[in-house]
Amino acid sequence: MNLEELNQIRETALAEATAAADAAAVEAVRIKYLGRNGLLPEVMAQLKDVPNEEKPLFGKGANALKNELAELIKEKQAVLSSGPKKGGAFDPTLPGQWPALGSEHPISKVTARITEIFQTLGFTVADGPDIETVWNNFDALNTPADHPSRDEQDTFYLNSGDLLRCHTSPVQVRYMESHQPPIRIIAPGRCYRRDTPDATHSANFHQVEGLFVGENVSMADLKGTLAYFAKQFLGEDVKIRFRPHFFPFTEPSFEVDFFFEVGGKARWIEILGAGMVDPEVFKKVGYDPDKVTGFAFGMGIERLAMIMYGIKDIRMLYENDVRFLSQF
Ligand code: PHE
Repeated sequence: MNLEELNQIRETALAEATAAADAAAVEAVRIKYLGRNGLLPEVMAQLKDVPNEEKPLFGKGANALKNELAELIKEKQAVLSSGPKKGGAFDPTLPGQWPALGSEHPISKVTARITEIFQTLGFTVADGPDIETVWNNFDALNTPADHPSRDEQDTFYLNSGDLLRCHTSPVQVRYMESHQPPIRIIAPGRCYRRDTPDATHSANFHQVEGLFVGENVSMADLKGTLAYFAKQFLGEDVKIRFRPHFFPFTEPSFEVDFFFEVGGKARWIEILGAGMVDPEVFKKVGYDPDKVTGFAFGMGIERLAMIMYGIKDIRMLYENDVRFLSQF
């Protein structure tokens, strides 16, 4: 054997490997050249009969061919094993590959449903930032620094002096400061409180705020609006009751309970806070409280989602466990 013969083997081997069109053909080439009884081991064995002056080049060439061929075969194997299995051809009868579709998060679902119901009453959606000024979150809502209910809701302050809003009510302030009555808005969004997380508390949760301001807006409008909402949301059989409560920014203020069936048993469940906008709030945003009246309400979205879907622990809503989320 000599260098020229080796070169010929090299050319045929590489050509055959390149031409191999499926896994079986590649494997045949591999066995033919690199297998234990293949051509290349045989070539190596013949090194001793190669003319002396060609020996170094021959040895190098044989080794290089072995490596080159092995590499080429490996590449072909990788390409062929990742392609379609059947003869390497496209098979249009195979089922398609469906991308996995996510599902809507229960919080998004409930928010969308609430929004939709109020939109049918002519409410539009307003928005505000999570980072709020102390003025919008407290002062303009008639909650001065020494007000006891400010302690209760004291929240996360930033170095700038701003804070993470503890409710969506500051959107009322923003909206009134930039718009003139009549006003009909709802404002869904994220809120923050200094709560220790447990099954029913989370330092981060969501609310939907509602605000209706105009001439002669009355308690009757508030009741009618919330009763309509309750029926749309939970069905015709729901009952609704107002319990006296206190919020600094509404007067009078209420907690509103809905009576409906959950887990096979009907009972009263506290759903939201509401009231007639306090004249002090109107003054703070530059409205004339002798000309306009209004009502506002705020409800927790997690609470509604948990009741509707029978979720026992609020933390499950934030764990992003697909097994949990894909149930909704
Ligand atoms: N902001 C109040 C809360 O977070 C709810 C509320 C909103 C009450 C609007 C009255 C009017 O508890």
